[in-house]
Amino acid sequence: MNGGGEELPPGPAAPVRFPRAEEREAILGAVRTPAFVLVERQLGENLTLLGRLREQTGARLLLALKGYAPGPLLGSIRGALDGATASSPHEARLAREEIGGEVHGYAPAYGREDLLAMAGLCDHLVFNSPGQARRWVDRAQGVSPALAFGLRVHPEHSEGQTPLYDPGGPDSRLGTRAAELAVEGLPEGVSGLHFHTLCEQDADALERTLVAFEDRFARWFPRLSWVNFGGGHHLTREGYDRERLVRIVRSFCERTGLTVYLEPGEAVGLNTGVLVASVLDLAGPGGRYAILDTSATAHLPDVLEMPYRPEVFGAGRPGEKAYTYQLGGLTCLAGDVLGDYSFDRPLAVGDRLLFGDMGHYTMVKTTTFNGVRLPDIAVLGEDGNCRTTRTFDYRTFRERLG
Ligand SMILES: Cc1ncc(COP(=O)(O)O)c(C=O)c1O
Repeated sequence: MNGGGEELPPGPAAPVRFPRAEEREAILGAVRTPAFVLVERQLGENLTLLGRLREQTGARLLLALKGYAPGPLLGSIRGALDGATASSPHEARLAREEIGGEVHGYAPAYGREDLLAMAGLCDHLVFNSPGQARRWVDRAQGVSPALAFGLRVHPEHSEGQTPLYDPGGPDSRLGTRAAELAVEGLPEGVSGLHFHTLCEQDADALERTLVAFEDRFARWFPRLSWVNFGGGHHLTREGYDRERLVRIVRSFCERTGLTVYLEPGEAVGLNTGVLVASVLDLAGPGGRYAILDTSATAHLPDVLEMPYRPEVFGAGRPGEKAYTYQLGGLTCLAGDVLGDYSFDRPLAVGDRLLFGDMGHYTMVKTTTFNGVRLPDIAVLGEDGNCRTTRTFDYRTFRERLG
């Protein structure tokens, strides 16, 4: 067995809160594996906290569906937030039909078909460049005369650690730089600016970003009525400086008279779901390789992309407890590995493992690589009952192949 010693990827950016003992029991007694289980109580706690922040800041709060789209619980978000933000016509339709309130849209570019669909579904449509705005404002207004238009800007201030997740990086295509805007001019019809530069960050990062943003873009504020501060705000994380956020947003609104939007994804879904997986085999010397019925690349791609080390209930770092295993996935990808974990007791085929904080950037990113079955979706309700709301079969896989 591996005693560890190698450097491990960083853990989750926020402390993981697993479901309570009785909730874990209800989950394990109800689901087949693999399964994503959404915990209604935990989503409710996040929404209460976000509702309070909405009142205290005066900002409008939208759910970024790209990060978190808890299918069976979308109805709980209706009315709890001000609406949702969409990256595509499919997300915009989901927002319109199942969440309601305001629907905002942004994509790095729109082709004709998507633009017309977005225009029919959104209240706010944000363009990535003045060229896109000039090309599409009139067409979109033809579909929906009340539509508000925005321009995403690049504040040229980076708070990111990982280039893959740093939209504020120096060579990022996301957003228009101030120098370009000065040459092009604010496109006709644009009434708001949007920036998104954060990822799992605290209010201090927003404060620094806002200084750069105002420095570069305040000259256009008199022509605007709103600004969208994007996502990446870890609002519901234990220890997030919410008082500071309130101060920052209120002071911005008082100074500028503009309406502020925040569009978190992860913060809405933080700690609201788990993935349950089973051990299928213990392979290799001493049974070191625990092969699970899930997959990092197909079910939890952020584990490989960030990369980060997810938390497993009751498990420790390699060598910390008596029995260490490499937890590996079901696909042929050599690197389809969740990491090395140690346990108090030896693992056995059929054991179930609970991966924590798996509600966001998981269900929205899964693939059927190797034809692996997508995890079932289940909900642990406020009433303590756990029910499976969706299973996936051959048809799901076949339909996507065309
Ligand atoms: C434009 C935009 N808004 C909001 C979000 C949501 O970010 P998060 O889930 O980190 O809050 C993202 C994430 O990529 C984004 O690109």
